[in-house]
Amino acid sequence: MEFTPERKAKFDEILKRYPVKRSALLPALHLAQEQEGWLSKETIAYVASLLDLTPAQVHDTASYYVMFRFQPFGERHIEVCTNLSCALAGADQLVEHACKKLGVREGERSADGKFTVTRVECLAACGGGPAVQINGEWLENCTLEDMDRVLAGEHVHRKFDWPKSAGDPVLLRNAFKPNSTSIDVYKAGGGYAKLGEWLKRSPDDIIEEVKKSNLRGRGGAGFPTGLKWSFLPKDNPKPRYLVVNADESEPGTYKDRLILENDPHQLIEACVVSTHALRSKTCYIYIRGEFWEGIRTMEKAVAEAYAAGYLGKNILGTGVDVDVFVHGGAGAYECGEETALIESLEGKRGQPRIKPPFPAVVGLYGCPTIVNNVETIACVPLILDRGAEWFAAQGVEKNGGPKLYCISGHVKRPGTYETGMGKLSLRELIFDEKYAGGLLPGRRLKAVIPGGSSTPMLTPDEIDVPMSFDGLAQKGSMLGSAGTIVVDDSTSMVFVARKLTYFYKHESCGKCTPCREGTGWMLRLLEKLERGEGTMKDLDLLWKITDSIAGKTVCPFGDAAIAPVQSGLQKFRAEFEYYVRNKGSWTRVAKTFEEALALEARGQAVPAS
Ligand SMILES: Cc1cc2nc3c(=O)[nH]c(=O)nc-3n(C[C@H](O)[C@H](O)[C@H](O)COP(=O)(O)O)c2cc1C
Ligand code: SF4
Ligand code: FES
Repeated sequence: MEFTPERKAKFDEILKRYPVKRSALLPALHLAQEQEGWLSKETIAYVASLLDLTPAQVHDTASYYVMFRFQPFGERHIEVCTNLSCALAGADQLVEHACKKLGVREGERSADGKFTVTRVECLAACGGGPAVQINGEWLENCTLEDMDRVLAGEHVHRKFDWPKSAGDPVLLRNAFKPNSTSIDVYKAGGGYAKLGEWLKRSPDDIIEEVKKSNLRGRGGAGFPTGLKWSFLPKDNPKPRYLVVNADESEPGTYKDRLILENDPHQLIEACVVSTHALRSKTCYIYIRGEFWEGIRTMEKAVAEAYAAGYLGKNILGTGVDVDVFVHGGAGAYECGEETALIESLEGKRGQPRIKPPFPAVVGLYGCPTIVNNVETIACVPLILDRGAEWFAAQGVEKNGGPKLYCISGHVKRPGTYETGMGKLSLRELIFDEKYAGGLLPGRRLKAVIPGGSSTPMLTPDEIDVPMSFDGLAQKGSMLGSAGTIVVDDSTSMVFVARKLTYFYKHESCGKCTPCREGTGWMLRLLEKLERGEGTMKDLDLLWKITDSIAGKTVCPFGDAAIAPVQSGLQKFRAEFEYYVRNKGSWTRVAKTFEEALALEARGQAVPAS
């Protein structure tokens, strides 16, 4: 096997983006898979030879990532997200329907070689659930009828119709304009107009402004951005890097995708000025591999920005040099953790490093590195354009700026809404007509995951809380990545816990024992409950396992993984106990848990066989 001349030329161009050859491994594997359909031993050996690696090294890395295949697939690969928000919209039924129709099991090629159907984890399309990708193209809000048309050979493509935010959004000011991805539209809205002026400001001056703005990282932890930037060592002669985290994979979160797919130049301009502020010359945007469209859009925009002189050497005559490179991942939630992301960018398995040292001191290629979320970086030009005071005033105390809030699950208008940080409550986000507009008719609120699957669940009486880092912390939860998932009273909380635990079991990187083994144990116990074989002792064991993961893992994934089970057991234990008493789910007999309890009281809890 060899690359076609076009692919070889593309590979040679990609190789130039990195000071270390191995970094080109994931892009090379994508090119090889695109050409051959899958990664055979021969293909792996060829890629290894290009990068001075052994085939074992390449296989070891490739096998970590779910997007690489080691057997032939059908011509059309149908990937259905069955994570929570999509499952609440019927994703599991889509998979079953497609497999039944094709007469295959999941992952198997159909007899005519045309299709392979697989389940995938959250695609950051939660509002458009059930979200499907067919050979990387979106088919959001997929129905059973859509699936039938796909299986009949039709080309069916649909993107989620993101509702617009009320008022005067700033981060999303361009996202819904016609042809919003083009440089001309971006410039017509004032884009790049002040870039030259900003690049003349000293890096220290920009960092001070960012500090004053109260910008806190939007990737999950909410760490103050200016402070993080000031951790870069002053006396280290090595190159420095900015790495933009566009791995967006936390179930419930689909905000960065909106910027990547709809307003790429906003991010590029932000990268240029932020890279300058860090006294760096190189920025990598690490985009999750499943964002086929986002990667294509960003690459095209980067090429446009180079051609227009906004990237490269001596930008706009300021003497500032900045390169921005797009780097695609290959399917692994853990690559969103900043040190795992760095490992992945270096062409290795995306497993985290032990901290300290922190990336600001020892990061990419052993050099000082800042990793920031897409939305965080996109805020920087706003701070420079309108001033730190303006930015801080958009939010609440110690939580500055505009903020993107995602909401999905059982609501009327799922979407990604912009408003001032902390200026709305969780109740408003769910019920206000400006946002999600409430639950579906006849349904009652049962549970809310406020900030992505890693954040502890809240009950209906806990939603009068500001959607800020500090506000949600006061309720024992977190703002996280601001991916709210709403669950109504038709849903079993054991099902919710099982869905999310499946995700964490699937995504655990395997580096440390409590997480690797504990997620599997939790999943097996929840499945046992669902099969009707659970005991009260199993519930105690479930809790004990969460306890032996909490705070005992290499990275925060462990604590994230126990959130659904711990808060499920704390706040909805009665449902778990029902499963034990009645040997299975209450959804077999009733539409709501309360109805099921009433039936149980009358001795009618067991479904007619
Ligand atoms: C398991 C895990 C997954 C993560 N995924 C993401 C992600 O997809 N995007 C992101 O920006 N941060 C993610 N983070 C947080 C990053 O480690 C890091 O804190 C963040 O990128 C820093 O950017 P910020 O300061 O702008 O928030 C994740 C963390 C963990 C532990
Ligand atoms: S906590 Fe989980 S994801 Fe993090 S290092 Fe350990 S095994 Fe990997
Ligand atoms: S895209 Fe399906 S849950 Fe996020």
